[in-house]
Amino acid sequence: MSNACVLGLDLGTSGVKTALFSADGEQLCSASREYPLYQPRNGWAEQEPSDWWNASVETIGEVVRESGIDPSRIKALGMSGQMHGLVMLDEKGETLGRSIIWADQRTGAECEQITSLVGAKRLIEITANPALTGFTASKIMWVKNHRPELFARCRHILLPKDYIRYKLTGSFATEVSDASGMQLLDVPNRRWSEEITGKLGIPIEWLGKVYESPEVTGHISDQAARLTGLPQSTLVVGGAGDNAAAAVGTGVVRDGRAFCTIGTSGVVFSHTDKLSIDPLGRVHTFCCASPGAWHVMGVVQSAGLSLRWLRDTVCECESKLARERGVDPYDVMIDEARRSPIGANRLIYLPYLMGERTPHLDPDCRGAFIGLSAMHARGDLIRAVMEGVTYALNDSVNILRGMGVTLDNVLAVGGGARSGFWRAMLADVFGCPIGVPERTEGAALGAAILAAVGAGLYPNVSDACDRIIKVKSTQQPDRENGEAYGKVYRLYTRLYPSLRDSFIGLKGL
Ligand code: XUL
Repeated sequence: MSNACVLGLDLGTSGVKTALFSADGEQLCSASREYPLYQPRNGWAEQEPSDWWNASVETIGEVVRESGIDPSRIKALGMSGQMHGLVMLDEKGETLGRSIIWADQRTGAECEQITSLVGAKRLIEITANPALTGFTASKIMWVKNHRPELFARCRHILLPKDYIRYKLTGSFATEVSDASGMQLLDVPNRRWSEEITGKLGIPIEWLGKVYESPEVTGHISDQAARLTGLPQSTLVVGGAGDNAAAAVGTGVVRDGRAFCTIGTSGVVFSHTDKLSIDPLGRVHTFCCASPGAWHVMGVVQSAGLSLRWLRDTVCECESKLARERGVDPYDVMIDEARRSPIGANRLIYLPYLMGERTPHLDPDCRGAFIGLSAMHARGDLIRAVMEGVTYALNDSVNILRGMGVTLDNVLAVGGGARSGFWRAMLADVFGCPIGVPERTEGAALGAAILAAVGAGLYPNVSDACDRIIKVKSTQQPDRENGEAYGKVYRLYTRLYPSLRDSFIGLKGL
């Protein structure tokens, strides 16, 4: 294999990770930086594009310096990014305020407006999804309705990672997988929809050029080369939305393959060569990073976020102990959860901290502990949170299976999948083996593989994955545990319908 290297940059919600890989997928060096999430109101979520840019410049610079390699060996950069976030730029290319990101739930009224302007059936035919608060179109409509002065100054609309592309290369571009989550793309035909943009009154020329994920979209500008230390010859490929990139990074690029991720959000993702749409819109259909194919996925809004929330609000003791022992606070928390039995001593958690997508499509529902008793300890709370997130993911598994998608072997990725205890829980609840890929860099590796294909180091995405990705170990399900979880899960599924009215009341307070 040549001595060429490729960079993968994963622009997440909690931070950015940049990693340098050899052409055969070995990670040589990596750097990461966190940045804040702003929540000015209940249900709102914003980030500052300049935080993303500064963190990207710093991590790329650090990796180029620390790796000690000759930068001319770096042939290409691929980016993966949190999806759906809205970045608006004026005619000078300056940002118009903070980005309203995927987790923000303020756009319920705009979703109704979009559905009435386009028609519910037509919207699903073209964009493969119903109007959703998480998606970009409703965020653009919110700005149009509530910040008309910003909308009037807008000249370009970009997604989070595509803003970094613009800053690195000067080009206004995106690629099909991330663009699918804007609700402005004709997903079956992989191009912007004139019908949707026309009906919503969003100038189509504000949107970047759409590429396939491994295609070259530009190269590093003179200024970005000076800031990052990358040579100007470095190619920048399309890249992918974080889930589509994680699919490449785990080899989920063929029919019958699937993965589940527990990051800030949680996802159950299945590749499909044939377009397949849930007529009820409970799971998303998007173009995937392998040219000409799609994926179907269910999204849990607050997966890892639920555990992080518990860590930051309730588990100060565990965090302190972890600091003393020099370990990760989550390891201490999960050790406590292990001591609580299946069902967490009759405690159930609903993970709807930021509303829920699959299966409820409800921006206004909120999280809950049901069954709290004076006997419960923090270990029960932690276990209930882990179980609640797993049951929410199981809702997606059941919908996908109902659509005829094969889910008999699922790979687990993301922060939550690092825990063997959580992986065993996934296997028992889903009732199928859960594998772990040998390389755990997920989305960053996927982005780098797309870069390697764009630089001509591999003929196509699936060939690159065949050579780079291997499964390390597999967790088999336990039937007895599965039955015990099944009883709790059945009760779990009855809670949302019985609480829906209360969530509406809560919103009205
Ligand atoms: C996918 C989604 C999330 C974000 C967060 O539709 O909203 O997975 O991409 O990273």
